[in-house]
Amino acid sequence: MKLINRHRRLRSTASLRSLVRENEITVNDFIVPLFVVEGTGVKEEIPSMPNYFRHSLDTLEDELKEIVSLGLKSVLLFVKVSDELKDNAGTEALNPNGLMQRTIKLVKSKAPNLVVMTDVALDPYSSFGHDGVVVDGEVENDSTVNILAKMAVSHAEAGSDFVAPSDMMDGRIQAIREALDKAGFYNTAIMAYSAKYASAFYGPFRDALDSAPGFGDKKTYQMDPANRLEAIKEIISDVYEGADILMVKPGMAYLDIVRDAANEVEIPVAVYQVSGEYAMIKAAAEKGWLDEEQVVMESIMAFKRAGATLIASYFAKDVVKYLKVNK
Ligand code: PBG
Repeated sequence: MKLINRHRRLRSTASLRSLVRENEITVNDFIVPLFVVEGTGVKEEIPSMPNYFRHSLDTLEDELKEIVSLGLKSVLLFVKVSDELKDNAGTEALNPNGLMQRTIKLVKSKAPNLVVMTDVALDPYSSFGHDGVVVDGEVENDSTVNILAKMAVSHAEAGSDFVAPSDMMDGRIQAIREALDKAGFYNTAIMAYSAKYASAFYGPFRDALDSAPGFGDKKTYQMDPANRLEAIKEIISDVYEGADILMVKPGMAYLDIVRDAANEVEIPVAVYQVSGEYAMIKAAAEKGWLDEEQVVMESIMAFKRAGATLIASYFAKDVVKYLKVNK
């Protein structure tokens, strides 16, 4: 055959393929989500997230050592709150000696070089399992935003480097920025969950934190999976309101939104490979139906190709181990 272009030429050897590769996965790409519980000596596996654990503060220290020794740079903290501390306004979220605030202090003292990011949302603290204050069966926006702003300041006081509002209330980025600045926390940054969809892929996470909504769903605040232009609107709002990093969530089913975000704005775009994505890969691998390492690496590469600068993933430690072995 007479062909002008033979695309296979550049794929002919492993060396050549690595020379022309457009994207690379590195240890610097990751945010490690961590689940923290009260107690001592606790390291409990989350049933729907095999090999992922809830830690009490003492066992978290070993986990932090491993994360640091692998060269990972950032953690995203979530806490599981006991039922008796939950109420409609998420009052416990503002407790200066609450589990989140103690966890932040521990991480900052044991692993001072880690970038500490903290989840700002009411659902783990809410007796209704919702991300906001419930009034007459509805999640109320503005009163929730007031609480989220105080929560962000409380995390900053404990030493958080980044607050990560995952609630999807309107105007919370601006309110949080203003509250942080007013309290003198000019350098506490905001990673906004800007395009967060009402997704069934969050199921295992809600098991991990016992935070499933007690009634209804989250569709009046999280986004409709059918919408793309609306994501751009959310993203642009958050940039104008003062977000430092924005996030798209979930990951694999929303790569088009990651790409749109990367094209649209000049701030770093993060993506969250959520609990259900982890569970699916784990389950298929357990059955021997998929090669876990290859599928994980392919999914992470897809995030990079889509334009993500940062990836929150329950596979972060695994990926770094794979990178070291295959160097
Ligand atoms: C809640 C929150 C959720 C996740 C992160 N923050 C669940 C939800 O919105 O119901 C999901 C993360 C995951 O599934 O891994 N504010």
